[in-house]
Amino acid sequence: MSTPEQTTAGNQNANTAKSGGVKSMDEIVALCRRRGFIFQSSEIYGGINGFWDYGPLGAQLKRNLKEAWWQDIVQQELSGPDGKPVDIVGLDSTIIMNPKVWVASGHAAGFNDPMVDDKETKQRFRADHLIGLYQAYNVHTARERELLDQATSHIADPMNSILPLRTLVASSIGEAVDLLFSDKKLRQSIGIRKFVPSSNAADPDDDTTAALVDFGSGEQYVTIDTVPVRTLELHYESVVSPFTGKTGTLTKPRQFNLMFETFIGALQDEDSKAWLRPETAQGIFVNFWNVIDSTRVRVPFGIAQQGKAFRNEVTPRNFTFRSREFEQMEIEFFIPPLEACRAGEPTPTDWYKFWRDLRFRWWQSIGLAGDNLQLREHEKDELAHYAKEGAGTSDIEYRFPFTAPGFGELEGVAHRADFDLKAHASACGKGDKMKYFDQDLQVELQGAGKSKEEIQQKSRYFPHVIEPSAGADRGTLALLCEAYTPDESRASKVYMKFHPRMAPVKAGIFPLVNKDAMPETAERLYKQLRKKWVVEYDPKQTIGKRYARMDEAGTPYCFTIDGDTLTNQTVTVRDRDSQTQERIAIDQVEAYLTRRLG
Ligand code: GAP
Repeated sequence: MSTPEQTTAGNQNANTAKSGGVKSMDEIVALCRRRGFIFQSSEIYGGINGFWDYGPLGAQLKRNLKEAWWQDIVQQELSGPDGKPVDIVGLDSTIIMNPKVWVASGHAAGFNDPMVDDKETKQRFRADHLIGLYQAYNVHTARERELLDQATSHIADPMNSILPLRTLVASSIGEAVDLLFSDKKLRQSIGIRKFVPSSNAADPDDDTTAALVDFGSGEQYVTIDTVPVRTLELHYESVVSPFTGKTGTLTKPRQFNLMFETFIGALQDEDSKAWLRPETAQGIFVNFWNVIDSTRVRVPFGIAQQGKAFRNEVTPRNFTFRSREFEQMEIEFFIPPLEACRAGEPTPTDWYKFWRDLRFRWWQSIGLAGDNLQLREHEKDELAHYAKEGAGTSDIEYRFPFTAPGFGELEGVAHRADFDLKAHASACGKGDKMKYFDQDLQVELQGAGKSKEEIQQKSRYFPHVIEPSAGADRGTLALLCEAYTPDESRASKVYMKFHPRMAPVKAGIFPLVNKDAMPETAERLYKQLRKKWVVEYDPKQTIGKRYARMDEAGTPYCFTIDGDTLTNQTVTVRDRDSQTQERIAIDQVEAYLTRRLG
């Protein structure tokens, strides 16, 4: 475990994969460092926990992801569920806003994570990240259920009164199993001598996991499951610490606000206090009225924004997955409430499904096409405070090596109802005066001979909102994990199989040897191609080594200028995935790339 200020290799690399085909997170992190995708922030000073820098290849990869999102959402014409064009406009709002924004949005009072400290080791962790090893009660038969009920019948709240034998900190059960499997030091620190995971064959839908362990007094089966926060609240003194395996050292969970504070101006007092935004969404909501007044867009329409967000995460972990500074790509799509929907026009539920499915297909289109991507509708009890029950909330999730066999959220799609616009209208003191006026609906209702009151009531409303909210850093991490492809037959032993649209470098251009006019010809081709794409000229080392470098960078095509080029004006082109080579005319290289990259 690292201190809050420093990133240790132990923390960032803790996701060693289990056997069975899961990619090794350690190896992905090592490649990212070696090839300049991602570095620790402030690395020469030991890093800083929860902050990451993108190197040359990573910066380009993330930019490609963000640009594809912007092009496909803001620039390209989209057709809505009724086949009509959808209007989306862009925005770039500030990171620091008037603090009243965060009071109105509910973040000042409610953007909290429950946090627990270990008084002995001074370690801090998120209460909902505590995973326990429990004595296994095999409740797969009615008789076993009866026995368990009898055993716990004297306990008022049995669900929260069964205490784990040992605990550890992990953001998923899959990660906990990985850690216990691979980290000997961790096993020792919490008193485990032997750990053999086994899947819960009796109930494949049950996401608890069983394992055979030895705590020093013989082998026994345990189940591995999240420790409910309620259990910690009730029994924090009796729950064993995830750092020492002892009881009596944990504090009761306390709410911890995740927003970073800062001060505006020279004085540091209550009046000058401000926050760094924890989401870009609120910048969109408070600009809703400005956009309506300054453009021709009318409900239904969307506002899209990309930008930094900051959260003082209690336990940043899993490489860039949970960072303290990260980038979001958010759309707030404004729709009429159900009462204002006209016959034959999409309802809020249609819009919700439209965005959910469109966004899922988008992630597939940029290379997350396999079964590592899934769409998950939220259970009723998972809905956020602003989410509209009934219309739905879903997560688009990716199976990262550190969440496998589980999934981690890439993007959430939520129906936020009119929660935010109403809250800001009320907090700024203007209330109903800030309702949106739907002129078309007014004309329609007038034409239908409706009463003045009904027209007034229906044509003025606070629009409802469908919010697809994605993380650019999590997206980039998913692209890296998906692309990482071990291949023992290659010199590099691994290649990055990026979708060509995402690949940071689109082509490598090599002179076979540094003589006989080959460098000059190659440089001419390089200069021609770099006007359109990011391409790399590399005259150094053997051709095999150059291919290996490009394989690790995920470059889809490499063009080599050789002796034949000078006589017949052809070059070889090598395909990254198949490693096959063909000869094409040098004056056809640009057309060849255009066909494949657009
Ligand atoms: N406006 C809604 C909102 O912010 P969220 O689920 O808290 O919703 C949206 O965040 C997305 O932002 C997530 O799906 C994730 O991709 C990304 N994200 C959130 N917290 C993050 C963190 N600490 N590090 C990296 N990405 C994060």
